Amino acid sequence: MIVNLELRNQRVLLTGATGGIGKQIVLHLLNAGASVLLQGRNIKKLDALRTQFNQFNEKVTVVAGDLLKSEDRNAVVIAASEDKVNCLINNAGVNQFSAFESAEISNLINTNVTATMLLTQALLPMLMRNKEKPLIVNIGSTFGAIGFPGYVSYCASKHAIKGFSEALSREYADTSLQVIYVSPRATNTEMNTVAADEVNRALCVKSDSSEWVASEVIKSIANKVPRSQLGWPEKFHVKLNAILPSLVDGVIAKQLPTIKRYI
Ligand SMILES: NC(=O)c1ccc[n+]([C@@H]2O[C@H](COP(=O)([O-])OP(=O)(O)OC[C@H]3O[C@@H](n4cnc5c(N)ncnc54)[C@H](OP(=O)(O)O)[C@@H]3O)[C@@H](O)[C@H]2O)c1
Repeated sequence: MIVNLELRNQRVLLTGATGGIGKQIVLHLLNAGASVLLQGRNIKKLDALRTQFNQFNEKVTVVAGDLLKSEDRNAVVIAASEDKVNCLINNAGVNQFSAFESAEISNLINTNVTATMLLTQALLPMLMRNKEKPLIVNIGSTFGAIGFPGYVSYCASKHAIKGFSEALSREYADTSLQVIYVSPRATNTEMNTVAADEVNRALCVKSDSSEWVASEVIKSIANKVPRSQLGWPEKFHVKLNAILPSLVDGVIAKQLPTIKRYI
């Protein structure tokens, strides 16, 4: 489903544009009239995306680079300045379903948190010089509000992104900058391994299509919703975990043997 919303004045830098959710966000943004600067690591994937959307020709530019590298982040900032970007969507991310004792930490935290914060910091002066209301959209996760076994590093990174969004939004509350945080639940993309999909099925965790998640991201932008958790019962679980974490401890403890079978 294409969301028909007017976003003609948005010139968006989208990180992770070549990923499952990213590609769908591109489609929705272009259909809503926005221009897009698409970022990913792989130039071939970006070129394929540009070809896929060639009917929007002058509205699509691409910049390839690894956000972990400062020279690549600088290239993204230069491309964003040239395109006079007024909206940054921090969507790039990595995940790993693994026992903590063998979990990858540095690459995951550096990609999901450090690179995201450094890119945002580097872009802020340009965004704030813009005459139009600047916008930053951070893609979080249900695991940014609920700690879950098998995802210790990822949960830590997404909790950080949630805190980053909230604190940044409050620090800039007396300016024209708006910060939006969107938290999807499990989504059908290549980010999730076979084991991750299997444990979700075993626990009856619902998984959304990337198309639907992207349409919710666009709705949050169009309707200026500052924070949103996608999916039911996840909306409820997030609130319950905030108010009564020990209750959620008990529920997850019962799921632990199943989770451990798939880790
Ligand atoms: N899928 C889920 O279940 C789920 C649930 C909740 C939240 N999310 C969040 O939604 C966002 C998008 O996830 P997705 O499912 O669409 O993931 P995905 O399909 O794996 O795509 C990830 C994207 O991030 C890019 N990326 C990764 N590391 C990068 C780096 N160092 N520098 C630049 N780009 C990099 C990838 O670029 P390449 O194409 O070059 O690899 C790709 O475009 C992520 O922030 C994720 O945490 C996902």
